[in-house]
Amino acid sequence: MAVEMGPEMMFEFLYNLPAQFEGCLKMDFSKASGLKKEYANIVVTGLGGSAIGGDILRCYCQSRLPIPVVVNRDYMLPRFVGPDSLVLAVSYSGNTEETLSAYEDAREKGASIIAFTTGGKLAEMAALDGNPVITITGGLVPRAATGYLFAPLVLVLERLGLVSGASEDVKETVTVLTQLREEIEPGREEDSNRARFIAGQLYQRIPVIWGCSSTSEVAAMRWKGQINENAKAPAYFNVFPELNHNEIVGFEVPEDLVKKLAVIILRDPDDHGRITKRIEITKDILQGKVSSVAEVEARGNSFLAKTYSLIYVGDYASVYLAELYGINPTPVQVIDYLKARMAE
Ligand code: F6R
Repeated sequence: MAVEMGPEMMFEFLYNLPAQFEGCLKMDFSKASGLKKEYANIVVTGLGGSAIGGDILRCYCQSRLPIPVVVNRDYMLPRFVGPDSLVLAVSYSGNTEETLSAYEDAREKGASIIAFTTGGKLAEMAALDGNPVITITGGLVPRAATGYLFAPLVLVLERLGLVSGASEDVKETVTVLTQLREEIEPGREEDSNRARFIAGQLYQRIPVIWGCSSTSEVAAMRWKGQINENAKAPAYFNVFPELNHNEIVGFEVPEDLVKKLAVIILRDPDDHGRITKRIEITKDILQGKVSSVAEVEARGNSFLAKTYSLIYVGDYASVYLAELYGINPTPVQVIDYLKARMAE
């Protein structure tokens, strides 16, 4: 990015997340209307901050759509993609090489394609091919543009008649995030600021973030990515119930390292009753072994509001953690270096 982005920039981006969702509600998706048809599957292709919206869409559609939604984070698309597939190619910069390659693969396979980007080569290629380009607001870093990188996907599906109620869910997300922001923004001190409190627990520890399949799993994935990219610290995530069948055994040795783990459990009132029981037993198993176990509860009613309420706390916590380490959360020099080396 050409603009020098200091630490305060990320707080500004976070503050404006509800406005991103509001902005998306006003976007014009009529360009995509021509692609209304019965699809056999939907594939979202992208990487990093541009891919996670695909995972949210996958979970959102799980109980709503009779066809699969798959997220592709690679150069090539799965073999099943063909003329009955809808491919949503997402890249904030429009220049991520894996996404450009997957776009070309989608074109070769005869899929219907919609590009979501601020510009770059993806916009150029899609425009040349006559495919709809949904133009996203630029000037942010991709992971801070999560509203812009997710909401248009679900709103396009609504426009295509594939899902209903998405606009209402996005509106509820705006309301929930706007209220939550008051409780976790920098003006709030640690004793009444959940995100700051969590950052304090993660400081000088290795974060282990646990969600639950089909409710908080994407939020857990996002927490991990945000801690990595904003705080420049390692973090790991997993989901219930799977983690009860392997990861939970691995808290014995080396004892001094296990004591450095800080576990965060992301909870949702809609978690299956048996999952709730599993979480309680798991907490008992961990007692005295790890540094700490903290929980964050989702807010709101819809899947989207609940998912983004968990994501919002994690996003703020990751920036507070960066602050504790004295690190600028905004630049990701290692990713930039890798992309530059790959371009050589
Ligand atoms: C940086 C970030 C990265 C990028 C990824 C793909 O903020 O979140 O994970 O999203 O490197 O780049 P784009 O999004 O431009 O396709």
